[in-house]
Amino acid sequence: MKGKVIGDILVVKKDMENPETLLDLPGVNRVVKLGKIKGFKREPEVKVLIGEGTETIHRENHCLFKLDVSKIMWSKGNTTERKRIAELVEADETVVDLFAGIGYFSIPIAVHSPVKKVYSIEINPTAYHYLEENIRLNKVTEKIKSIHGDCREVAPKGVADRVLMGYIGYTHRYLDFAIGALKEEGGIIHYHESVPDKLKFIRPVERIKKAAEGRQVEVLNKKIIKTYSPGVFHVVVDAKIV
Ligand SMILES: C[S@@+](CC[C@H](N)C(=O)[O-])C[C@H]1O[C@@H](n2cnc3c(N)ncnc32)[C@H](O)[C@@H]1O
Repeated sequence: MKGKVIGDILVVKKDMENPETLLDLPGVNRVVKLGKIKGFKREPEVKVLIGEGTETIHRENHCLFKLDVSKIMWSKGNTTERKRIAELVEADETVVDLFAGIGYFSIPIAVHSPVKKVYSIEINPTAYHYLEENIRLNKVTEKIKSIHGDCREVAPKGVADRVLMGYIGYTHRYLDFAIGALKEEGGIIHYHESVPDKLKFIRPVERIKKAAEGRQVEVLNKKIIKTYSPGVFHVVVDAKIV
């Protein structure tokens, strides 16, 4: 069986002869086929093979993530990273999550860490809708302030001990805004990039240093999150900038 279970939905990529047999899988109540991605909105063709609807609640690491599997991506490959980041946050920190999505990082931080405040920024209205739902579902309204918009325009400045840049696609163009969100005395950024094998960690570190413009940069950690495409990796670099 090729597919992934998100909440109670098994998401498959091909039509199947007897989809009912898939209901034997633990926790699966519905089967949805996602086809080609079409149109300028880049939404996939959706066929519900068993059950009704495409909205579900996915559970991971004691957090709840409500999402519509036909509209929102859920990356299993990022599970370890979501857990790791929540474990790094220390008491009374302020965190700015520049690319919050449905709360992939913000929710585990608010649920598991002693964070003071998370500013969670998201540009996409559908993702933002689920971000707000997930803040309520996980009962972390006191800890997370959601902000709808482009992080380049709406990110708070000079407040953060830690900035999350969990997005790949010209992420380096956002480095100035991440550094601008840090407190004057500095802090830590978690910078994601998709990078060809031979530039692995060299290019992301160079880009961080360039954006830091002579400020002191200490690389705390470098990690491959997953293979992005053949010969290209999704990596994260934790860097302290003072
Ligand atoms: C796909 S998520 C990252 C996935 C996540 N790291 C995980 O663990 O699965 C990245 C989010 O950044 C949002 N985004 C992209 N550009 C943005 C911008 N300029 N400002 C705010 N959010 C943005 C996208 O809409 C998307 O929801």
